[in-house]
Amino acid sequence: MVEKWEAKDKLKPKNVNGISEKQIDYHFDIHYKGYVNKLNEIWDKLEKVDRTVANQNYSDYRAMKLEETFNYNGAMLHEIYFGNLTNGSAQIPAALKTQIELDFGSYEKWLQDFKAVSTAFRGWAFLIFDLTTGKLRNIGSDAHNQYAIWNAIVIINLDVYEHAYYVDYGPKRAPYVDAYLSAINWNDVELRFKKAKKAFEAMK
Ligand SMILES: [Fe+2]
Repeated sequence: MVEKWEAKDKLKPKNVNGISEKQIDYHFDIHYKGYVNKLNEIWDKLEKVDRTVANQNYSDYRAMKLEETFNYNGAMLHEIYFGNLTNGSAQIPAALKTQIELDFGSYEKWLQDFKAVSTAFRGWAFLIFDLTTGKLRNIGSDAHNQYAIWNAIVIINLDVYEHAYYVDYGPKRAPYVDAYLSAINWNDVELRFKKAKKAFEAMK
């Protein structure tokens, strides 16, 4: 049976502080669902592709496998991103703040570094939980399937593709980053942080 990814309409956020409904509509309905549709198309085609002619220079199989991770991560990362957006009513959970202070020196140092990552990359800024060391790290990527650390769990993912903010902010990324940071659903973030800590303990 061919695997299929289902788009999750319930994750579409409403009334997000600092990000308009039109911006969310384009981002969710066109970009997120576009990744889901292309992922399903690739999974269909992978059923029939000729594996006997797979080739590292060019082959249909290689092209599909490259775009499989691009669209898989596109679908998965946007579900985390949209699930994280709210009206910013909750505060950063104490346990996460404590680990940020431990791993980055202070909350302010983490924030300064996270903002630098969000400015220096073209796709995503991440706070990840590194399952190899048990530490939190900020990393960036230029595309959904580039520059990741393997064996890590996404705690926060800020979409800095231009499609995420141009409707509202044009070329000004900094106010969008501030809007995102003040709209984070910390309850959702806390759940992932707790699961990551459990996974790290289980893998020791
Ligand atoms: Fe996006």
